[in-house]
Amino acid sequence: MHIKSNISLKPYNTFGIDVMAKHFVSVTSLPELKSVLKLEGYPDKLILGGGSNMLLTKTIDALVVHIDLKGISIVSEDSSSALVKSEAGENWHEFVLWCLDKDFGGLENMSLIPGNVGTSPIQNIGAYGIELKDYFVSCEALNLETLELKTFSNAECGFGYRNSIFKQAAKGKYVITSVVFKLTKDNHQLHTNYGAIQSQLETMEISEPTIQDVSKAVIAIRESKLPDPKKIGNSGSFFKNPVIPLKDFKALKTKFPEAPSYVVSENEVKVPAGWLIEKAGFKGKTLGNYGVHKNQALVLVNYGGAKGENILALSKLIQKTIYRIFNISIETEVNIL
Ligand code: EPU
Repeated sequence: MHIKSNISLKPYNTFGIDVMAKHFVSVTSLPELKSVLKLEGYPDKLILGGGSNMLLTKTIDALVVHIDLKGISIVSEDSSSALVKSEAGENWHEFVLWCLDKDFGGLENMSLIPGNVGTSPIQNIGAYGIELKDYFVSCEALNLETLELKTFSNAECGFGYRNSIFKQAAKGKYVITSVVFKLTKDNHQLHTNYGAIQSQLETMEISEPTIQDVSKAVIAIRESKLPDPKKIGNSGSFFKNPVIPLKDFKALKTKFPEAPSYVVSENEVKVPAGWLIEKAGFKGKTLGNYGVHKNQALVLVNYGGAKGENILALSKLIQKTIYRIFNISIETEVNIL
C-alpha cells in the first residue's frame, strides 16, 4: 500500500478538473481495501471509481481511495444465458466489449458510457431504452464500518431512474467491489426502437443487426453527440431529466407546443432537460474555458483549465433560468464535491 500526498486528481476525473487530494491511495485487492479502510489517522475517506460522475470544486482533505480491483469471469452458464462477474475497477465500456466479444447480449445499448463497473449500479446507468437494472443480478459491497461483504440482489438495490439504494439509505455506507450480470447467449433481445438507433442502423445499411451492430450504432450516435472526455472534459449528462405532473406539462405545452416528453406513468412525464436548456439559450454557450456543449445541451464541458466552482456557478445559473422560464426544477445528476 502506497499512500501519496498532495497529488492532482486531474487524471482521475473525466471533467479534467485540477484539484489536489491531500492523501491518495489506489487499491488492487479486497484485503488491501480492507487494510486501507482500517487505517487510523485518516478519519475521512472518499471512494473514487472512474471519476465520471463528479464535479470537483475544492481540495479534497479526505484520503481518496481509488478502487482499482480488476477481473472479469463467467460465474456460470447454460445454453441460453451466462452469469458474468466483473470486479469494480473494470472500465464499463471495456467490460461491455468483453461481453460482446463472447457474444453475450444485453449491455450493447449502454456501450461507451464512461465510468467503471463498480459505480454503474449507484446511479443505475442507462442509455437508449435500457438501464443497468435490466441485466443486473447482484453486487457485492463492503460495509465501510464493519468491513463485512454484503450481497445486494436486484430488488435490494431499489433501482429507479438514475437512482438506487446507494444514493439513498445506503449512501456513503458501502463500497461496491463486484457486480454480476445475467446476459443472453442466444435469442438476443435487441432494443433498436429508440429512434436514433434505428436510423443509425439504416445509415450503416444493416437490416438484420447483431448485438455487435447495435453497439456500433450506439457508439456512432454517442460519438456524434457527446464529447469524448479524453478530448474535452465532461461528466456526460450534468442534469437529470425532470419528471413533472402531466397537468404541468399540459400547461407547458400551451406556451411551448413543441415541448418533447416521455411518458413515465399515467400522471407523470419526463421532459428532456437538454431541450429546456437549449430553449433557455444556453446550448453552445462558452464562458472562456468552459460552457455548454454545442451538440447536447445536457452536457457541461471543460475546454481545459476550468475551475470546478465556475462550472458549478454556470449550472446554478442554468437551474435558476429554467425555473424562471418554465417553472421546472432540474436536479444535477453529477455529484458535486
Ligand atoms: N434535446 C434538445 N436539445 C439538446 C439535447 C436534447 O432539444 O441539446 C431534446 C431532444 O428533443 C431529444 C431529447 O432531448 O430528442 C432527448 O435527447 P437524447 O436522446 O440525447 O437523450 P437525453 O434525455 O438528453 C438521456 C440520458 C443519457 C443517455 C441518452 C440516450 C439522462 C439524464 N441522460 O439523455 O445519459 O445517453 O438519454 O439514452 O437521462 C448520462 O447519463 O451521462 C447520459 C449521457
